[in-house]
Amino acid sequence: MRTIIDVGPNDRGYSVSSLTGSAVDDGYTDITSHDSWVEGPPLKTFARLRDDEPVTWCDEQDGPGYWAITRYQDILDVSRDVSTFTSRKGIRLEDMNAEETAARRTMMELDPPDHTRLRRLVTKVFTRKSVEEYETQIRALAIQVIEEALERDNFDFVEHVAKQLPMLMLGQLMGTPNEDGPRLVELGDALLGNTDPEFTDVVVDQVDSDEYRLIPFRSPAGLELFEYAGQQARIRKEQALDDVISRIMAPTRDGQPITDHEFKNFFTLLVAAGNDTTRYTMTGSLDILLDRPDLIAYLRDADAEQWRIATDELLRLTTVTTHFRRTAAVDVEMHGTKIAAGDKVVVYYTAGNRDERQFADPDTVDLTRSPNDHVSFGRGGPHFCLGAWLARMELRVTLQEFFARVSDIRRDGAQDRLRSNFICGIKHLPVTVTKR
Ligand code: HEM
Repeated sequence: MRTIIDVGPNDRGYSVSSLTGSAVDDGYTDITSHDSWVEGPPLKTFARLRDDEPVTWCDEQDGPGYWAITRYQDILDVSRDVSTFTSRKGIRLEDMNAEETAARRTMMELDPPDHTRLRRLVTKVFTRKSVEEYETQIRALAIQVIEEALERDNFDFVEHVAKQLPMLMLGQLMGTPNEDGPRLVELGDALLGNTDPEFTDVVVDQVDSDEYRLIPFRSPAGLELFEYAGQQARIRKEQALDDVISRIMAPTRDGQPITDHEFKNFFTLLVAAGNDTTRYTMTGSLDILLDRPDLIAYLRDADAEQWRIATDELLRLTTVTTHFRRTAAVDVEMHGTKIAAGDKVVVYYTAGNRDERQFADPDTVDLTRSPNDHVSFGRGGPHFCLGAWLARMELRVTLQEFFARVSDIRRDGAQDRLRSNFICGIKHLPVTVTKR
């Protein structure tokens, strides 16, 4: 199954950038600029940084700068050591003052034990075992979405397939009505796409977003999500339901429920984290497979274990969440570089997942790669992605049901990518299919 692929545009002229990275990356790309990611991830630059400057200083136009960590093992070390590398000051590059941080804090911006108090409220819903119980439900939703998409021969895989399932499933777990799904998707897009003009009028690095500085992602969409979360809470205050929202509203271990504001931030976090990430992973996976009919043929015959292993390889290669940030709580030294207390330290999962110190032939698709301890969901620390098992299941089931219904699938025009240094995703992937 291990095959070396060509780097660069394929014979149909569309760049296979999920796999090979940006064709315009010369090894010296500004990884902080949102524009650097619209042609695909700057993988050559990350390869150079891993080799030459594994702890490298990056200047920022609108911030004090930060240390970029690009080697696999260092990413694990930073993620694990929560007393040296705190999450409390924020987990994205944006600098927030104390007021903004407090207003927008979710469990992501907490360290244990405060983090554990919140995460415990919902852990049970997202364990591997629980998610296995949702498989029938997820498969039914996937079939419904795919069959609707296949009423056409040409369609945008993102719009008609990948965008639909994650929110439908999350909505069922959270207990929100299906008909609210499309609006929640739009609002989630506006949050995570806050640097892309397709998804928001308030492009945070281009217009003044100061009036939204206390709202998640400095986005007006956060206000509407807060309002919606408040309505959902009121319904459950009348009567608790058997859903995630009621769980979040239940007392924590210390006997106290979380505050209304904590609840709204929690709800918004789930909509933001559980939506686009899975969508872009599905799309990036198909983008890779479209150029490799041999791999699609392999997957059509794959058994459950082979699918499980293949799914993780697709997650590794797509690495939709490019980085998370921590802040040094004390002075610390890494590879001889002094990092001062208060400095921002950013772990680049995109770089770690292509580190040849951890993965043999990292730029090769090997659907049989095992073990495959990728960092697409983070790894080693308390913040390891809550939705990892759900996302894996959604990715696998969607691809299974899609390939089961089409005998041939091809690109049908150019794809385009999100303008974001945080989420690396294909926004539109036009395809033409022949149904079975
Ligand atoms: C392929 C899809 C996904 C990717 C690539 C992804 C990626 C990540 C990453 C990299 C982290 C941070 C890990 C760390 O700091 O160590 C994270 C955290 C998180 N993810 Fe995901 N995620 C995905 C899907 C989901 C889904 C479906 C949910 C739904 C509930 C979700 C909810 C969360 C939450 C709540 C956190 C914060 C956890 C904490 O702070 O303890 N994610 N995710």
